[in-house]
Amino acid sequence: MDNLLSNDKFHQTVPKQFILPPKMREPGQVNCTMSLPVIDLRGGSHFHVEDRDQIIEEILHAGKEFGFFQVINHGVSEQLMRDMIRLTEEFFNMSKEDKAAYYSEDTSKTSCLFSSSFLAKKDGPRYWRDCLRLAYYPGPATINDWPDKPAKLREVFAKFIVEAREVSMTLLSLISEGLGLKEGYFEGDLSSGQVIINANYYPPCPAPDLTLGLHPHCDIYLITLLLQGAVSGLEVMHQGKWVRVDPIQNALVINFGHQLEIITNGVMKSVEHRAVTNSGAARTSVAMFIAPDKESFISPAKEIVNEENPPLYKSFVFKDFSRIYIELSAKRVDVMEAFKING
Ligand code: OGA
Ligand code: NI
Repeated sequence: MDNLLSNDKFHQTVPKQFILPPKMREPGQVNCTMSLPVIDLRGGSHFHVEDRDQIIEEILHAGKEFGFFQVINHGVSEQLMRDMIRLTEEFFNMSKEDKAAYYSEDTSKTSCLFSSSFLAKKDGPRYWRDCLRLAYYPGPATINDWPDKPAKLREVFAKFIVEAREVSMTLLSLISEGLGLKEGYFEGDLSSGQVIINANYYPPCPAPDLTLGLHPHCDIYLITLLLQGAVSGLEVMHQGKWVRVDPIQNALVINFGHQLEIITNGVMKSVEHRAVTNSGAARTSVAMFIAPDKESFISPAKEIVNEENPPLYKSFVFKDFSRIYIELSAKRVDVMEAFKING
């Protein structure tokens, strides 16, 4: 049977398997004075042409320096964002019996509900998170596989994916223009894989210092868009310290996955991040990932590499990267080592 954390309203103690050895909580320091760039997208894909160069510059700067930023005025409706958080909360607050019908640890399915992380080591500690993972591909065809409760979940999640995907594709097109890649570089194969949604629920934890909601990892795909509720918990690695990403109302957090870092030959950074727990309030977040087709061929863009800037990474077929990423439990140094060209 399932082992969802959200099945218990209150956790008085932390079961032994969730306690991380101190090494896995390092570095403990949080850099409180630092905050991520906030970029005003001036209406998303409908901004004025004269604002374009300015926005491109801000995105490139944030992508090179932090690999993470927040966007406001991005075009996703505020009502829709509120509904996403509310429905995610409603989902995890359903009865144990209702949720049991959706439980599955098979992440190749278009709908699965599990606890902890499938990227965690099998014999390692568990993470203080429940996750509903949904895939949208090819298009709406997979929606009928998603939970039919709460009643509005399918409709609202599908609508969010359409709007949020548009923001992601706009960002990718600005990046491709800013880096001098050919027009439409990220359209087609590179972004036509499944759109994946992780609806995350981190219940209050009685011992936040001993646990993590999600282990440090880089996202595997091209670009990630994260919606946070009002409770903070996301931390991003910057110059050897964790930087807390405090939620800004109606903003979306954007970060780049391994594939974008490799395609841009290391110019745009894919940065490690983690989720911490807290004892006061449940935290809800929704991550959306834009993925390449699994047969897509990935390599540093030829517009970027030349004699002075030789390719730093090998070329590969995306599904082979996925396999190795999972085998290496998403540990950044190990994953990058496997795809780096040495010397
Ligand atoms: C993820 C992720 C962070 C969060 O789902 O990949 O990094 O704040 N989530 O929930
Ligand atoms: Ni992530």
